[in-house]
Amino acid sequence: MSKVAKKYLATDPWIIEEDGFHPEHAEVSESIFSLGNEFMGVRGYFEEGCTIERFVGSFFNGIFEEEPINHPVNYNGFPRRFHFMLNSLDWLYTRISVGKEALDLGKSRFSGFIRSLDLREGVLKRSFTWHTGKGDIRVEFERMLSMVRPNVGMQRITLSSLGFSGRIEVKLGLDFSNLQHNRGKSFWNTLRKEHCGDESAIMARTLKSGQKVFSAMKTSCSAEADVKKEAGPQIVSRSYRINLKENEKVTLQRIVVNTTDKKAVDDDVFWKRSLETARKLDITGYEKLRAEHVGYWKKIWAAQDIEIDGDPENQQGVRFGIFQLHQTYHGVDPSLNISAKGLTGEEYHGHTWWDTETYCLPFYIFNNPAAARNLLEYRYLTLPQAKQRAIEKGCKGARYPMETIDGTEACSVWQHGDLEIHVPVAISYGIWHYSHLTGDKDFLHGHGIEMLAEISRYYASRGGWSQLTGEYGFWCVMGPDEFHMMVNNNCYTNFMVKKAFEYTIAVLEEMRKKAPAKFDSIVKKLNLGKDEMGNWKKMAEHMRIPQDRKTGIYEQHDGYFDMPHLEVDKIRQEEFPLYHNWAYYKLFRTDMIKQPDAMLIQYFYSKEFSDKVKKANFNFYESRCSHESSLSPGVHSIMAAELGMHDKAYSYWGHAARLDLDNYNNNTNQGLHTTSMAAAWMNVVYGFGGLRTDGEFLSFRPSLPKKWKSFKFSLRYQDRILDVHVDREKVRLSIDGNGAVRVELFGKACTLDEKGLEMKMPAGRIA
Ligand code: BGC
Repeated sequence: MSKVAKKYLATDPWIIEEDGFHPEHAEVSESIFSLGNEFMGVRGYFEEGCTIERFVGSFFNGIFEEEPINHPVNYNGFPRRFHFMLNSLDWLYTRISVGKEALDLGKSRFSGFIRSLDLREGVLKRSFTWHTGKGDIRVEFERMLSMVRPNVGMQRITLSSLGFSGRIEVKLGLDFSNLQHNRGKSFWNTLRKEHCGDESAIMARTLKSGQKVFSAMKTSCSAEADVKKEAGPQIVSRSYRINLKENEKVTLQRIVVNTTDKKAVDDDVFWKRSLETARKLDITGYEKLRAEHVGYWKKIWAAQDIEIDGDPENQQGVRFGIFQLHQTYHGVDPSLNISAKGLTGEEYHGHTWWDTETYCLPFYIFNNPAAARNLLEYRYLTLPQAKQRAIEKGCKGARYPMETIDGTEACSVWQHGDLEIHVPVAISYGIWHYSHLTGDKDFLHGHGIEMLAEISRYYASRGGWSQLTGEYGFWCVMGPDEFHMMVNNNCYTNFMVKKAFEYTIAVLEEMRKKAPAKFDSIVKKLNLGKDEMGNWKKMAEHMRIPQDRKTGIYEQHDGYFDMPHLEVDKIRQEEFPLYHNWAYYKLFRTDMIKQPDAMLIQYFYSKEFSDKVKKANFNFYESRCSHESSLSPGVHSIMAAELGMHDKAYSYWGHAARLDLDNYNNNTNQGLHTTSMAAAWMNVVYGFGGLRTDGEFLSFRPSLPKKWKSFKFSLRYQDRILDVHVDREKVRLSIDGNGAVRVELFGKACTLDEKGLEMKMPAGRIA
C-alpha cells in the first residue's frame, strides 16, 4: 500500500502527546485532539484565538442546516434537499492579553509547548510559557466534555507568573460568529443573549432548518478581578481584569451547559427550559464534575480495554480508537447515530452511512449492547423516511438513504445516492448480527422484523430477472467499491440481499411457530401479501452470484474480469487521495478498486467459504485495491490474519490502527475516520483474535503477530464477560457471570465455564 506515515506525536500507551508545537500539522492536531460525548463535540483548536491556519469546529449531534439541491436537470427521484451538520458556537471562546499584547501562538513568543490527551481520563491539556514584554507567564489550559452529563462542557485556564507582574485581561465568551469552515459562511441567527448573576447565556437558530442551540456558562476566577459583562451581535462574554503578582498564579474556570432544539419549540419556551436545565444540573462544582467524568472513563477502561504487549505504537492506536468511538456514540439517545467523521469535522457532513451497521455495530454489540440496539432503533425511527424514499424511487418497502442525519437522503451526487443500493441490506445485516449475538427477541420480533420485511420488499421491487439465465439480480448499481459505477450484479450486493431475504423469511417462520400472536399482528401491520415470502424465497434461490468456478474468485460485478488492468502500486504517493487528484471518470475504467467488497462477504459470512476460496480472492483483489476508502485496510487485515499471512495482517492493521495518528490518508485535518477506528477494534478481535460470529457459537482462531508477546481483550456476551488472552504458548478463554457457553476454539467445539479453557497455540498461528 503506497501510503506513508507522517509521525510527529509521541508514542505512549495511554497519552496522545504533541511535545513542541507543530504548526505544519495544526489542523491535523485539531482533529486528533477532538473531544466529544455523543451529544456534542469540539475540535482541539486553540480557544484563545490564533492567526495560524485553523479549523475551529464545535458540533452538536443531529443539528444541521438544509438547502435545496440544484441539479442542472431535475430528473424524477433525485433528492431535492441537502442537509449537513452545522459548525456551531465556540463555547470555549477565550482571549488573553497583557496590555496591548494579545496571546496568539501564531505571533507571540513562547516555549515549552505541550498538548496532551490522557485517554484514561478524557481530559485535554495544553501548556506553554508565554514570553511577554513584561515577563514570562506559564499558561495552562484544560478542557473536557462530560461523559456523565451530555450537556456539560468545562474549561480551566491557569496563568502562573514566572517573573511577570502586571495586569492580565481574560475574556471568556460564547460565540456564534464561528463560520462553517468549508463554506466560509455562518448559518446562525443569534436570537437572544443575557447576563444573569454569574451566568451568561446565548441562543441562536439556524437560518433554514429552524433548529436552535442554547448555551449558558458559569465562570469563576480564583483571584480578585474586575469583571466586565459584554455582548456583541453574536457573542456574550465576561472579561476578567486580574493583577497578577510575581510568582503567583490565577485560575479561571468555566462550566457550560448546552442544549439543542430540533422540533422548532417556541423561542421563549426553549430559552426558559434551557435555563432551567442549566440551573438544575448541578453546575457549581468543577472538581465534582471532573471527578465523575474521569470516573466514567475509569469504568470504561476496566471493562473494554485491549492490551497488547510488545507494540507500543499500535497499542496507542487501538486505545485512541476505542476512546474516540465512545466519544462519538455510547447509546444515550436513539435519535442519534454515528457519522463517518464523528463529531470532529465537517467532511462527510455529519452523515451516517452503512458504516454504522457493517463496521461500528460489532464494537457496540460486544461492549455496550444497549447502545447497539439504539443504533438500530435509529433506523426504526427513520423507517417512514425510508419508505417515502422507496416510493420516490419507484419502488416498494424501505429504501434507506446512502447518507443522512434525519433519515432523508442527503447524497447530492446522484450516482452514489441512487446506485449504491447496499445500505438497506447493511441494516438487515446489522439486525441479524445484533439479534443473533444478543438473543434480543423483543427487538427482533418487533421493530427488527418490520425493518427486515420492508427492506426485503424494497429489494424485491428494485431487482429483476435475467432474460438469458433466469437469475435474479440487480442491474445498474454501484457496489461499496465506488470505483465502478452503474454496473450489473455487484457480487457483494447480490450476496447480501440473498442473505437478507433468507433471514427475513426465517424470522417470520420462527415467529409463526413460536410467537403466533406477534406474527399475526406483524402480518396485519405490514399487510404482508400471500406471495411475498414465496417470492423472496425464489429470488434468494435464484440470485446471481458472479464467480469464476475454476478459480473460486468472485467477480466483483458482471464483466469486471474483462476490464483493463491498472498497476495500483505504481500510483505515486502524491496522487492520493485519488478523488482529489484524478478526474472522476478516470477512476471507473480499470480494474482498480477502492475497497474490497467481494472480500467483505467472506468475512461477514465466513463459514460459507473455504480457505482455498478466501485465499484466491484475497490474492486477486488485494493487488487491485487502492485503499482509497479508510474501510479497506481493516478488512484486508482480518482476512490476512485468518489466512495466516501474518506480515500482511500486521501491516494493514497498523494502517487502520494509526490511520489518523499518522495521517496516512493525508486528510486527517478534515476530521477523524471513525469507521477505521471501529475497523482497528475489529482487527484485534476478529483479526488477531480470530473471532467469527456467523456460526451457532462464537468461534476463535487467534494468531499472534511477530512483534507481539501477547494480547488480551474482553467481550460482553449474553450477560457474561468473556476474556481472551493470547500469548506465544497458549490461548486462554475465561468467563465471568451467568454460566457456561459453547464456543469453538481452533475449530473444536468446547464448553467454556468458570474453569476457563486453555489451548496450545498451533505453530502456523504464530508469526
Ligand atoms: C466509502 C463508503 C463509506 C463512506 C463513509 C466512502 O469513501 O467508499 O463506503 O460509507 O466513505 O465512510
